[in-house]
Amino acid sequence: MTTTTTRRRRPALMWTLLTLLAVGIAVFAVQPYLTGDTSLSKIPLNTDVALHYLSIVIHALPGGLALIIGPFQFSTRLRARHPKAHRIAGRVYMISIVLATAAALFAATVSTSGLPAQIAFYLLAAAWLYSLCQGYRAIRRGNVREHRVWMVRNYALTFAAVSLRLFLVIGLLAQQAYPTLSFDDVYTTSAWASVLVNSVAAEYFIVHRLLVHRDRRPASSGRRGDAALTAQ
Ligand code: HEM
Repeated sequence: MTTTTTRRRRPALMWTLLTLLAVGIAVFAVQPYLTGDTSLSKIPLNTDVALHYLSIVIHALPGGLALIIGPFQFSTRLRARHPKAHRIAGRVYMISIVLATAAALFAATVSTSGLPAQIAFYLLAAAWLYSLCQGYRAIRRGNVREHRVWMVRNYALTFAAVSLRLFLVIGLLAQQAYPTLSFDDVYTTSAWASVLVNSVAAEYFIVHRLLVHRDRRPASSGRRGDAALTAQ
């Protein structure tokens, strides 16, 4: 009985943790770019490119919005009760990602973080946009199941903004133990790790939560299996 209750609560706990991390990082990371004060930038700006700071602002604001909207889009309860809100928030999420991706491509090009990190950002941006397009195409065709799969993949990439910062903290702590590690090593590794770990986590979630649960679902259980992908 207790095990069953724990199993039922686990997705809700995961969803709460994910939401808290998403909102926390969105507020913490984006807030310095709301002031217009270039000296508050957390990354070194390219002094040869006047638009570098502006590109970070245009990237970070919609990026933060997408990060916050995402978890609520996965809530079965919210979707069932407010389908129109799901559609509107979905459009805002999409436009945010298109804007954030365009600005990210520019920011990555003029970044001073070095080629290995720039390549990680290009890859992330391409996968971000591709998974969004696939998710959109699926829902336009009325294929809800495929839409969910692609949107899980897409949000896992949005969530790379959280993972990157968590890995950075871990890397900076590791630097204490391994002083030969440079900040660039930590930054580049964190950028690549965020892409890789989040993509693998998304595929694990899709296979073990969505596909396996649906296959096990009795034919008479209606839409209940849909909750496997979502939290509430
Ligand atoms: C998932 C796709 C994303 C890509 C490809 C991407 C790409 C980039 C790039 C290239 C930079 C400049 C980094 C540098 O020059 O070293 C950057 C910085 C930044 N990004 Fe993103 N980003 C993504 C998602 C997000 C999201 C969802 C947020 C929301 C919080 C976000 C917030 C920021 C912020 C605040 C900065 C400025 C650096 C800092 O203060 O930490 N990004 N991003």
